[in-house]
Amino acid sequence: MRIDLLEDTWERGVPHDQFAYLRREAPIHWHDVPDDTGFWAVTRYHDIRAISRDHHTWSTEAGSTFIRTPSPEEMAVARLMLLNMDPPKQTRYRRLVSAGFTPRMVGKLTEAIRARAARIADSVAEKGGEVEFVTDVAQHLPLQTICEMVGVPRSDQQMIFDWSNRMIGFQDPDFHTTSDDSDIAGGEMFLYCDKLVEDRRANPRDDILTVLVQAEVDGDRLTREEIDAFFVMLTVAGNETTRNLIAHAVLALIERPDVYQELAANLDDEDLWRSATEEFLRWGSSIHNFRRTAVRDTELHGQKIAEGEKVVTFYASANYDEKVFADPLTLDIRRAPNEHLTFGGGGPHFCLGAGLARAQITAMVRELLRRFPEAELTAPPRRMRSDFINGIKHMPVRFRL
Ligand code: HEM
Repeated sequence: MRIDLLEDTWERGVPHDQFAYLRREAPIHWHDVPDDTGFWAVTRYHDIRAISRDHHTWSTEAGSTFIRTPSPEEMAVARLMLLNMDPPKQTRYRRLVSAGFTPRMVGKLTEAIRARAARIADSVAEKGGEVEFVTDVAQHLPLQTICEMVGVPRSDQQMIFDWSNRMIGFQDPDFHTTSDDSDIAGGEMFLYCDKLVEDRRANPRDDILTVLVQAEVDGDRLTREEIDAFFVMLTVAGNETTRNLIAHAVLALIERPDVYQELAANLDDEDLWRSATEEFLRWGSSIHNFRRTAVRDTELHGQKIAEGEKVVTFYASANYDEKVFADPLTLDIRRAPNEHLTFGGGGPHFCLGAGLARAQITAMVRELLRRFPEAELTAPPRRMRSDFINGIKHMPVRFRL
């Protein structure tokens, strides 16, 4: 079978056929990349978990996002983000913000998230039920939530959305960006953040930016660049992933009206909503992969991997591994257990915002189903061209009032 896991493939759909073949025949598969060094594609659930948990062998310091090798300039900025640090340094930086994301904090935010989701769903009714789902619905809740937490004023939130699209969408011509433009967007975000930082030094508030401005690591205050990098990472990570997951969840329900009806008839069944949310996460798996680099010569399933070689772990494959998930290509909102790898395979980088994302997905889907008994597509959805984000760019939907 021809294996191609680069951006064009994903625009057509998740390559389940290629992954099923790789899991069966070549779980550690060498993949060439034109004009760049290739990588080892890892596709089995248990291998991905093991790699994610072993930072002594598999480092993120040479870059964890994007399959292609970053330029030295890109890497200089990326290295300021915890995604691209190894413990113990990563542990020290993560601790600065982790208090904002504990289950207790997410519990405190849940009512505000629900109220925001209710307002967004009301706005769908005001439009007569016919919407461009991505921009009219899915983008709003994640954007508002992370911007409130970090400390971005309401009036500037659309700019954050546009910047993060430009940063993440550079492989898709529809976003009119190139990888240079992606860097420019990042630079603009840094400048914007600097202004907020100045304000917080003078006027501390109850937000993450103030925490970062006042934080110390090993007795030193964070540099301006470090705060900027945190800002970009949190706003981009909080946005793109959750927005796309909400879009995939609603698409899955439109494709399965029986499941839509079942959830709509059980709006107060918390256990059902909990397991349905996990299944939406498994199903929609909004980040295709993360990358690690071998820090020493090693072996996986007898395959020798040399120090410095890239290993790409495909969550999109792990979540459909038939050895772990029965009937993986069927949406099952009661699936248990459902230990998907959508937030990573565990270990030091496990998604900081997992609880926050779960709360938002449940709230947004539930508020839609509370108001609208049925939904249908009015045109086929269009997927983003990206080998990193499982993105939906356009999804015209008609909700029945
Ligand atoms: C459905 C939504 C989300 C998905 C699918 C997702 C997925 C992921 C994945 C796969 C990782 C890397 C795991 C690893 O390398 O082992 C990660 C890390 C991270 N995520 Fe999320 N994420 C989501 C939502 C969020 C939200 C709402 C935030 C809020 C700010 C967030 C913040 C982060 C941060 C800061 C990291 C880096 C953690 C570290 O390196 O220590 N994510 N996420």
